[in-house]
Amino acid sequence: MPEKARSLAEISWDAFQSLPLADKARLYSRDQRLFHVIVAQQFDRPILEELGAVATRIRRIAKLKAGMDFLRTQLPHKSAMLYFSQPSTRTFLSFHSACQILGMRTVEVRDTSTSSERKGETQEDSVRTFSSFSDVIIMRHSKGGLAEKMAWTLSNTERPVPIVNAGSGKDQHPTQALLDIYTLQRSFEKRGGIDGKKIVFVGDLARGRTVRSLAQLLTCYRGVEQVFIAPPQLQITDDILGLLRASNTRFEVGDDLDKILPEADAVYMTRVQDEWDEKAGESGRIDTSRFCIGADQLAKLKQNAVILHPLPRRGEISVEVDRDPRAVYWRQVRNGMWIRVALLAHIFDVTGNIRDFSG
Ligand code: CP
Repeated sequence: MPEKARSLAEISWDAFQSLPLADKARLYSRDQRLFHVIVAQQFDRPILEELGAVATRIRRIAKLKAGMDFLRTQLPHKSAMLYFSQPSTRTFLSFHSACQILGMRTVEVRDTSTSSERKGETQEDSVRTFSSFSDVIIMRHSKGGLAEKMAWTLSNTERPVPIVNAGSGKDQHPTQALLDIYTLQRSFEKRGGIDGKKIVFVGDLARGRTVRSLAQLLTCYRGVEQVFIAPPQLQITDDILGLLRASNTRFEVGDDLDKILPEADAVYMTRVQDEWDEKAGESGRIDTSRFCIGADQLAKLKQNAVILHPLPRRGEISVEVDRDPRAVYWRQVRNGMWIRVALLAHIFDVTGNIRDFSG
């Protein structure tokens, strides 16, 4: 990294692009706080623990009317742009709800056929325009790398508002990984935390951005073993395995779910991501019937294991599994809202007020 580059405003785009991810991640922070949130590599264990603690504090405060009234006074002077040009239910609604909890105003573009992109405006110019009307831009886009490009671009303008990546291409979904970690923290609270657990990822691991971000965050914990179970065509890619090797993380790659289930502490299911098919019907021809959870698989799973899923699901988890106490994927959805409140509170530096609240 050029010696003097302490911020994105001090480095050219070409030089920035050529940096290793760890150096890029450092430049997304400001004054030792998260500012832009672009990749999972920005998070370390202390910040994961801090965000989890703040989220838990917020959910307790929010149980009472006086607490909700207090939370709404935190950021009424801030507004968020929700730019979601790819479909979303949970991420959009949880960020929207998170903003409302903190009193923030929100504006949104979800259907770009109603925006000036329809007239040929570039996505870069669209995002720059959004920065005129908002104090944070939360964006989901099919174009991998666009969030990173916009973080650099806005940092070099007179309105350098933070960018939060709510899903970028096939690459990263860092705030989903935050809610996954928060769910694991809570699930294993009385079992020594996440350290030492065996986490089994199942499904479309080649194109699942949530898996890629979570695999990275799990390297912040001691002794975690990661297991990747998928058909060969949908198996985890070498870049993630390279990251695991570099962090001395134990891992296993295979295709026998039934065999690994009795050893799993957490099973992270995913759907086939056929929106990324290069040829029509390509992934429909892959046999995924062995990568599903139903009553037979529940019988093999430890009594204190948990089943996660970023959702939406298709057929990979039977609806009957929902009633099993080990199924925590609906809790994950609500955890997503609380951890995103905590993240916005951190970015705008109001976590101290939240910690001090005594109402
Ligand atoms: N997990 C997730 O990103 O869900 P949505 O696509 O509904 O936002």
